Amino acid sequence: MTLALPAAAATPSHAVYSSAGDRAAEKAFVDALMAKMTLEEKLGQLNQPRGLGSNTGPAAMAADDAQIAAGAIGSILGSHGAERTCRLQRVAVEQSRLGIPLMFASDVIHGHRTVFPVPLAESASFDPEEVRIAARHAAVEASAHGIHWTFAPMLDISREPRWGRVVEGAGEDPYLGSVMAAARVRGFQGDDLAAPDTLLATAKHFVAYGAAEGGRDYDVADISERTLHELHLPPFKAALEAGAESVMASFNEVAGVPMHAHRGLIEGLLREQWGWDGILVSDYTGVMELIPHGVAGDREDAGRLALAAGVDIDMVSEIYLKDLPAAVREGRVPMAQVDASVRRVLNAKFRLGLFDDPYRYCDVQRQEALTLNPEQRAAARRMAQKSFVLLENDGDVLPLSKSLRTLAVIGPLADNRHTMLGNWAVAGRVEDTVTPIEGLQAALGDRTRLVVVKGAEIEGDDTSGFDEAVRAAQSADAVVMFLGEHPEMSAEANNRTSLDLPGVQQQLALAVAATGKPVVVVLLNGRPLSIGALQGRVPAILEAWYPGVEGGHAISDVLFGDVAPSGKLPMTFPRNVGQVPIYYAHKNTGRPPRAEEKYTSKYIDVHWTPQYPFGHGLGYTTFGYDQLKVERAKLALAAPEQRVSVRVTNTGKRAGTEVVQLYLRDDVASFTRPVRQLRGFERVTLQPGESKTVTFELGFDDLSMLDASLKPVIEPGTFTVFVGGSSSATAEAGFEVTEQ
Ligand code: GLC
Repeated sequence: MTLALPAAAATPSHAVYSSAGDRAAEKAFVDALMAKMTLEEKLGQLNQPRGLGSNTGPAAMAADDAQIAAGAIGSILGSHGAERTCRLQRVAVEQSRLGIPLMFASDVIHGHRTVFPVPLAESASFDPEEVRIAARHAAVEASAHGIHWTFAPMLDISREPRWGRVVEGAGEDPYLGSVMAAARVRGFQGDDLAAPDTLLATAKHFVAYGAAEGGRDYDVADISERTLHELHLPPFKAALEAGAESVMASFNEVAGVPMHAHRGLIEGLLREQWGWDGILVSDYTGVMELIPHGVAGDREDAGRLALAAGVDIDMVSEIYLKDLPAAVREGRVPMAQVDASVRRVLNAKFRLGLFDDPYRYCDVQRQEALTLNPEQRAAARRMAQKSFVLLENDGDVLPLSKSLRTLAVIGPLADNRHTMLGNWAVAGRVEDTVTPIEGLQAALGDRTRLVVVKGAEIEGDDTSGFDEAVRAAQSADAVVMFLGEHPEMSAEANNRTSLDLPGVQQQLALAVAATGKPVVVVLLNGRPLSIGALQGRVPAILEAWYPGVEGGHAISDVLFGDVAPSGKLPMTFPRNVGQVPIYYAHKNTGRPPRAEEKYTSKYIDVHWTPQYPFGHGLGYTTFGYDQLKVERAKLALAAPEQRVSVRVTNTGKRAGTEVVQLYLRDDVASFTRPVRQLRGFERVTLQPGESKTVTFELGFDDLSMLDASLKPVIEPGTFTVFVGGSSSATAEAGFEVTEQ
């Protein structure tokens, strides 16, 4: 039995509880339950150990049955599988004094067993509906495996490609990040949390983790409050407005205050200002880490600070469980803070319907039916196709013909299963993947002879394989190279000081390109890379990220033109790491770079522009833009609605999809403004010669900026819009906002 998954997943008619609106029933139930609970049982609800076999941080104690039976555990990290979670749930419900069900949490970051492309790749699709569907599939499959709660989406905006975790997010832009945040939350949580195919979503890592100095995980984010509000907070606001039921605190400090003790941003902003009342979960040992941060003298101090800041659940430190009972009894920790956190945890369990039926996620048949089924694989393949970004295609080398006699396949990643899964593929299995070579074989059958040569390892300086690779290229009609990073070079604690292709891969590419054959480099990697040396030498470069279980098929779909590439870069690709940070929404400064003027903001050894800008991506056709119009040359402050339209035409010979992007500049304001900011995008598919007029609506949120007290305002003055296929779009038009 396979449930075909419609766009908005069907909610079973037997849903006995809808999370919306039953707050009165929820309060009455939770009040009555809390009245029966001891202090130890309350603190038990705030304790989240890791499950046996799961480990996403420093080694720590694993949950055991005795602790569950004693009511000392409220949720478990990383246990999954209908049978395993069911057994643990029976211990909690049937052996503990109050029978409070457990919540099972896991990092379902980009799929569960059906591993989708990594989030940075999904964001490159600029297709929020496809991203929502991917998250929906992930929720259906993960919940069938007994999971109630995912620690996703990761919302960290970052302009730091050295940081390993850029792979987990939506890139450098808060607008794109906000759109993707909402799409993922809606996909994970669906329409009804009490349905057995929905997950609690977690907006993480709160906040500004992507600003860690030097791109080093866990390091300091020393940023202005304005940058915090303009860059890092918007995706969290979007996620909470989309209904995210959980937020995870980040490891870093923000301007001197570690986030796990940041009462101002958790209690103050999230709860009091934004009115959000979901679960704030610590990151892995994040509560304990207040000690090395130097703001807590001992474990109890750390627990006291975190609870007071509004951290409801202590992941893995076991401080709330073991060090707070005495502190509460001796009056050093207010009982009211414990109660507030316990209530939020019990509310979540109530909304999940676990008090109605704690075993609703324990259906082994459902698990079988909803694991890696054809619909899920098809969605993973479609998402991968849309996520690829064609960076170069000189001489239209791509698409390749399927009637090639001989195709050389070169590079260390051509048959690497791990790069298909990428990182944070917690339940992913390499045997589920389709490698690039398998994709080529499936696409070409035995019509084309594949000459496969590794040529070099991912790392190391051994060039002894180059000769064989060059010979293979010389013997072939075309060459496809699979180069990049292995997944352990990005994601958590995998930061790099270089953005170059690791090892001797770049030299291998240049040696093969020197044969003069049509060479395509397919990049499999988790961050922007500095690959400028390939430009003009390797005619075609396709960024494929870590493309998921169906990656091999999706790569061939695009290489041979069954599907045209349509992705756009969600992060700037620098010319080299020395340019970092480099991003499109930069400030103009008092001396914007000019080649003819020495004393302007630039370098003497590298051009100041990036290798590839945010929003860049080619297709197999070309697009023309004209008839750019703003509906109102002037608009009143009191009615800040503007409509911008542009005609896009497919000026090439093949059908294609363009991501039409609209950027806005506030020309003069009381605070410096970026030279342009993304304020709208739309995917448009056009046949050769076909045109479509695309219209964007701009309103208060688009035109406003933050005033001196960080409140959004629109200031009268002129604005400029730029429209095109990347952040370096040149078509522009202006309008003015006037006082009356
Ligand atoms: C890790 C990550 C976080 C993840 C958590 C649980 O350290 O920082 O993103 O959700 O631990 O695995």
